[in-house]
Amino acid sequence: MEHCELLALVTGGSRGIGRIICEQLQKDGYQVLAPSRSELDLANIETVKNYISKNKNRPISILINNAGINFPAPIENILLDQWQSTLQVNLTSPFMLIQGLTQHMKKQRYGRIVNISSVFSFVTRENRAAYSAAKSGLNGLTRTAAVEFGPYNILVNSVCPGYIDTALTRQNNSPEQIKTIIESIPLGRMADAVEIAELVSFLTSDKNSYITGHTVVADGGFTCK
Ligand SMILES: NC(=O)c1ccc[n+]([C@@H]2O[C@H](COP(=O)([O-])OP(=O)(O)OC[C@H]3O[C@@H](n4cnc5c(N)ncnc54)[C@H](OP(=O)(O)O)[C@@H]3O)[C@@H](O)[C@H]2O)c1
Repeated sequence: MEHCELLALVTGGSRGIGRIICEQLQKDGYQVLAPSRSELDLANIETVKNYISKNKNRPISILINNAGINFPAPIENILLDQWQSTLQVNLTSPFMLIQGLTQHMKKQRYGRIVNISSVFSFVTRENRAAYSAAKSGLNGLTRTAAVEFGPYNILVNSVCPGYIDTALTRQNNSPEQIKTIIESIPLGRMADAVEIAELVSFLTSDKNSYITGHTVVADGGFTCK
């Protein structure tokens, strides 16, 4: 498959890990669509439906469900709106995009989908109920999509980053918590977003011809401890 023929859609491409994934996929030779939140608000079912109906005939071969949100709060204080929007952005909208934007992949019998999950889909900590539930669900969606789309040569995987040095991490942890986090990682540092983008680059490339339905953890050894 010639890369110049391939169109990749990356959600949450404006900043953080998503921006670096977009840059990496461009380097890899893909044409990258990275809709802004005003074009595709993943928190709003109607705008997701509109985006899908406008774009369903585009020749998208690669879909990266990267955008994610997290409102850390103890279970007793989570507002239902926050719970629902965390599930909407992290799980339901990725499901809708997989359901609505894979026609071309099926027709051409080639596609790659990567869902950006989290180590908090396996382990957790306090205040992460909605986020952990959503990311665990995303791993389940990955496995079922891999089974259903395997016959079309569409490979579907989750990437589970540990702690990455981005705005989301700094927003959800105090400087003291960041220090403790770094001490808990065997490699002694948070990851650079480039390290996640390179993994996504492999999983979306022709070099990955047999890994599907997996949740690939990149966490510097964090979950081993
Ligand atoms: N950072 C980490 O340590 C870490 C660890 C594990 C997993 N992850 C996962 O990696 C992914 C990227 O995280 P990040 O750290 O790069 O996050 P980030 O820096 O906070 O960026 C989040 C991205 O998602 C977009 N987004 C948020 N809500 C949206 C909505 N309603 N509609 C459309 N786009 C929306 C943002 O767009 P705007 O610019 O419009 O806000 C932004 O592009 C997420 O799925 C996150 O759960 C991150």
